[in-house]
Amino acid sequence: MRVLSSLIALGAITASATAQKVIPMSFSRAGPQHKGPERRSSTFSQQINNNLTGGGYFAEVALGTPPQNVTLILDTGSSDVWVLDSKADLCHSMALESKYGSCLSTYDSAQSSTFQSLDQEEFSIQYLDGSGASGVYIKDDLHVAGANVKALQVGLAQNTTINSGLLGVGFDTNVAASTIYQNIIDTFVNEGLIHTKAYSLYLNDLDAEIGTILFGGIDTQQFIGALKVVDIQPDPQSKIISSFTVLLDSLTVGSGANFLPQAIPVVLDSGTTLTYLPQTVAIEIYSIVHAVDDTLNTGFVYVNCDIVSSLKNTTFDFQFGGNDGPIVKVPIHELVLDNVSEYVAQGLELPALPFAVENTCSFGINGLNGYYLLGDTFLRSAYVVYDLSQKQIALAQGNLNATKTNIVEITTTGIPIVSGVVSQEVSTPTKILGSASEATASTGTDALAPSQSTSDSPAVRVAPAMGWEATAVTLVAAFCSLTGATFLMF
Ligand SMILES: *[C@@H]1O[C@H](CO)[C@@H](O)[C@H](O)[C@H]1NC(C)=O
Ligand SMILES: *[C@@H]1O[C@H](CO)[C@@H](O)[C@H](O)[C@H]1NC(C)=O
Ligand SMILES: *[C@@H]1O[C@H](CO)[C@@H](O)[C@H](O)[C@H]1NC(C)=O
Ligand SMILES: *[C@@H]1O[C@H](CO)[C@@H](O)[C@H](O)[C@H]1NC(C)=O
Ligand SMILES: *[C@@H]1O[C@H](CO)[C@@H](O)[C@H](O)[C@H]1NC(C)=O
Ligand SMILES: *[C@@H]1O[C@H](CO)[C@@H](O)[C@H](O)[C@H]1NC(C)=O
Repeated sequence: MRVLSSLIALGAITASATAQKVIPMSFSRAGPQHKGPERRSSTFSQQINNNLTGGGYFAEVALGTPPQNVTLILDTGSSDVWVLDSKADLCHSMALESKYGSCLSTYDSAQSSTFQSLDQEEFSIQYLDGSGASGVYIKDDLHVAGANVKALQVGLAQNTTINSGLLGVGFDTNVAASTIYQNIIDTFVNEGLIHTKAYSLYLNDLDAEIGTILFGGIDTQQFIGALKVVDIQPDPQSKIISSFTVLLDSLTVGSGANFLPQAIPVVLDSGTTLTYLPQTVAIEIYSIVHAVDDTLNTGFVYVNCDIVSSLKNTTFDFQFGGNDGPIVKVPIHELVLDNVSEYVAQGLELPALPFAVENTCSFGINGLNGYYLLGDTFLRSAYVVYDLSQKQIALAQGNLNATKTNIVEITTTGIPIVSGVVSQEVSTPTKILGSASEATASTGTDALAPSQSTSDSPAVRVAPAMGWEATAVTLVAAFCSLTGATFLMF
């Protein structure tokens, strides 16, 4: 497996000089996984899926004493932190690894002096794409973004079809355990690290490798205009507030009419790489971009890569919470994903397409019935503040490639009504993310953490993982054809 040169800089706790209770954490995006041509359909498709969809977002944390580094996928769609057991089935089977990808990093409880058993309390989690993990819950110390969280309950996956653990940051009402426990967000508040259960997520654009989650704060340099607040809706299935569901009122493309006859509930889910809208809406969008829907066969929707230039300046405008609600404009280039020609060379069979193979890209919006998700292809254009205590979400247009920082704390009174920058910062072409110092500077953690030095915020190399989509545990396998799982089945 190729080890990416993308880097993560861990921010340090900021209490020192600013006395602000915020925890900044950077994470990096998974990139291509070049394992060479591999004809087993599932392996092949996972590689494609990973690259075509832009991969997931990974955070580097450490578990136990002494700390064992683990790479976890950041997921707003689930609520447990879980790691791969060093004895997990996947990590000891070449057959399984070739199917699901090599284990990224594992944890060995026998090597940790702070490990606590929870008497075989069962851990079992299933994701929307049909993947899952099971094992037991344990407790150990988690080191995240410079904070040391004592005795956090985490899942220890012994049997898994996912080659990386997860950092689930959703509501505790959605944990996979039979009894609700204090999850990582609850624990941050209980230990006084942040004031309230809230954080901001800034994925940054498709070409940027580093995004940031800021626990307890908002960075006003990372968004444009006013942050506008909407209420989190009860989950359509469970009827309780357990997922980041908001009402999407309108979706327009360019100066066109609203595609939505009525507001629809959508889940803001960083663990899902694409955006899933009602099938009828998706079909209308496909006609605008001349897309070919091959989800039933190869699992992808294809478009001519040239639409990025032919529809230049076209944005897909998502409005939430009524006429005065927040609007996020997603430019066409954020929706047209990688050129597939390399995969065709490796054996991907495209359907008959009205455009040449070398001009074939995959498209970042898919159709679905019954359950709608705004994943990374939407979130990269947005700045999203999640307030789990007040059950509200604030959205604004992301100021991509932000180079400055200005942190405002989120307190128990709710998301502060603050404005961001006036317009998109013009990025300096010379600035290339990719080294620890640049990554730290560009995500602004240095300004927050005067005590930070290269030794206490070291850069971490992250290996890429298979692409997959994660969402709430309550979802059943009936949904599994909607994501990359289509691939796993042929
Ligand atoms: C679960 O994984 C263990 C190894 O960690 C293995 O012995 C066992 O057979 C696996 N169980 C299943 C159902 O795959
Ligand atoms: C796109 O926007 C840029 C800057 O606003 C403008 O210069 C250019 O003419 C626009 N292109 C098209 C095709 O409208
Ligand atoms: C795979 O994705 C990376 C960025 O994530 C991109 O640089 C690379 O060109 C892509 N490869 C193909 C074949 O599309
Ligand atoms: C797609 O990639 C191939 C090489 O992998 C290149 O020759 C071709 O120009 C690319 N097409 C586009 C539209 O980027
Ligand atoms: C952000 O930076 C990347 C390269 O690092 C560049 O490709 C992209 O166009 C920039 N985005 C904006 C909105 O300036
Ligand atoms: C764990 O990661 C840190 C950087 O975050 C690094 O300094 C350390 O060497 C790593 N430890 C191991 C055992 O890889």
